[in-house]
Amino acid sequence: MGAYEIKSLEQYFKVYKKSIREPRKFWSKIAEDFVWYKKWDQVLEHHLENAEVKWFVNGKLNITKNCIDRHLAKRGDKTAIIFEPNDPQEEAQHITYNQLYARVSKMANVLRDQGVKKGDRVCVYLPMIPELAITLLACARIGAVHSAVFAGFSSTALSTRIRDCEAKILITADGGFRGNKTIDLKGIVDEALEDCPDLEKVLVVKRTGADIDMKKGRDMWLQPLLDTALNESVAEVMDAEDPLFILYTSGSTGRPKGMLHTTAGYMIFTAYTFKNVFQYEEKDVYWCTADIGWVTGHSYILYGPLANGATTVMFEGVPSYPDYGRFWEVVDKHKVTQLYTAPTAIRALGKESTDWVTKYDLSSLKVLGSVGEPINEEAWHWYNSHVGDKKCPIVDTWWQTETGGIMISPIAFATPTKPTYATLPLPGVQPVLMDEKRNEIEKNQVVGNLCIRFPWPGMARTIWGDHRRYKETYFSAFPGKYFSGDGALRDEVGYYRITGRVDDVVIVSGHNLGTAPIEDAINEHPAVAESAIVGFPHEVKGNALLGYIILKETGETRNRENLTQEINQHISEHIGPIAKLDKLQFVNDLPKTRSGKIMRRILRKIASGDTDNLGDTSTLLNPDVISDIIEGAK
Ligand code: WTA
Repeated sequence: MGAYEIKSLEQYFKVYKKSIREPRKFWSKIAEDFVWYKKWDQVLEHHLENAEVKWFVNGKLNITKNCIDRHLAKRGDKTAIIFEPNDPQEEAQHITYNQLYARVSKMANVLRDQGVKKGDRVCVYLPMIPELAITLLACARIGAVHSAVFAGFSSTALSTRIRDCEAKILITADGGFRGNKTIDLKGIVDEALEDCPDLEKVLVVKRTGADIDMKKGRDMWLQPLLDTALNESVAEVMDAEDPLFILYTSGSTGRPKGMLHTTAGYMIFTAYTFKNVFQYEEKDVYWCTADIGWVTGHSYILYGPLANGATTVMFEGVPSYPDYGRFWEVVDKHKVTQLYTAPTAIRALGKESTDWVTKYDLSSLKVLGSVGEPINEEAWHWYNSHVGDKKCPIVDTWWQTETGGIMISPIAFATPTKPTYATLPLPGVQPVLMDEKRNEIEKNQVVGNLCIRFPWPGMARTIWGDHRRYKETYFSAFPGKYFSGDGALRDEVGYYRITGRVDDVVIVSGHNLGTAPIEDAINEHPAVAESAIVGFPHEVKGNALLGYIILKETGETRNRENLTQEINQHISEHIGPIAKLDKLQFVNDLPKTRSGKIMRRILRKIASGDTDNLGDTSTLLNPDVISDIIEGAK
């Protein structure tokens, strides 16, 4: 691959210009480098007002042909995936492209034997083990639509997703390892499936060896099926716009949004952005520390790297186990050249002694990446000095589940970096900042709503089963433009700085959490009348959650500490431990407008300790409540 490769800032500007003036020519030139059964008739058809976009119309391909088969002749014995287990004593696995082909084929044949057909949805609830990558690729091989659910989600969250996408089969494991914990995945699955009568089959990977229940007629161990499956397979012919996967993300209402990504555009966008942002070269060992259960893992552990024939590391564990040197040990051990991680991990490790870092040889590193939330200045400098030895550019990559791939980011070695700035849009990406009156902001240093005014190949095409919601959520606030839900500003040279969410989504430790589903979970607690969740700044997590809670009986006699625990338990069960509250305040009332809406803007300010300028409170029905809440916080 090589069309429009960027090696310098000058070249970036040239390529960028081309991509904006002639987007169709630009993307079709890049698409030429891929393997197609049949090329496209038209590069792009779109009607953004209606949230309608098609790329590479009538092109036929299979993404696994591009991620696996086409590498076999030249790179069959090259390592595709390095699996680094949770326990450093367990040996790492090196899976070559030849082996990946065989393992994906076996899995694809098993799925076919189980009756999975093109277009069927397959739910994947697996820890970070090779079977996770292999299962997703196997789905793509046979044209089934994978829907991975992060293995930290609760049974309720899992069953909601299974029902929403009407999955007929689920792949899971007996359990998972994470630091010094084991997670009872199969137990969670059994609970979830009580509410999913339409799910027919469960295939179970053995990982922890835990003693689990196998339901007759529904559950099967995967390994014996793989053992007898053929290690070759035919790749289904997919249309460019056939669904590749569904991945759920939080929204401002309780129901998660199943973002649907399709085949060709997603492949080309992730491959091109991976290659250029990280300046990937043939001998590199690239490591993204995300979980494949999130979009970062889909695009930049799996599809983007494999489309480039890269060696990609999959890490099962956590940065703090068995000690705070674990990341650096992995970098040293596998001679990692590109490290892509999240600010929350950098902040957590930055709080520990730098001896953990200096103990290891990090000289293999060339490029560092950051994703998931704004990276604060202090974390940026720590990453730059202690990990990158001031010689590795930091690519601060802004993007979303919805965008499929990186949108705004430095290109390593080409774009001069600037702490806290995601810098410049990648080729093909046309950002604009919009004010509340729907006017474009031309001035520098003014925060606006970050929108994109032209389609890009990696964008989600719809919300599964709810195109109207897709249109309303993303294309209605600023008609004809995609609205990201993030705020941003531009500096005098045109660099973008992402300032954070402008909606009811809070990013906690890099995880997207909608406040509405958490409130729904809390409100189900019998003692709770009403609640409002807001984010507040947190040293390591970036943001943490504070819940303002009104109890049904103000004279609630139960111990408040117990209640706090019960409420958090409730959240864990409904969503997952990641959504637990850091702080909780019982209040008698919440600030509301005359129409009864909770004024979260004010609560956010109080929660952040910014009580001196609460802004306009004149529309409040109950202005007295503010001083009560501020008093109560003390
Ligand atoms: C935030 C993760 C600032 C942002 C790829 C976005 C960022 C949300 C950055 C999407 C960044 C992601 N700087 N903020 N470099 N990267 N975000 O869907 O608020 O899990 O809207 O996708 O994360 O989170 P998601």
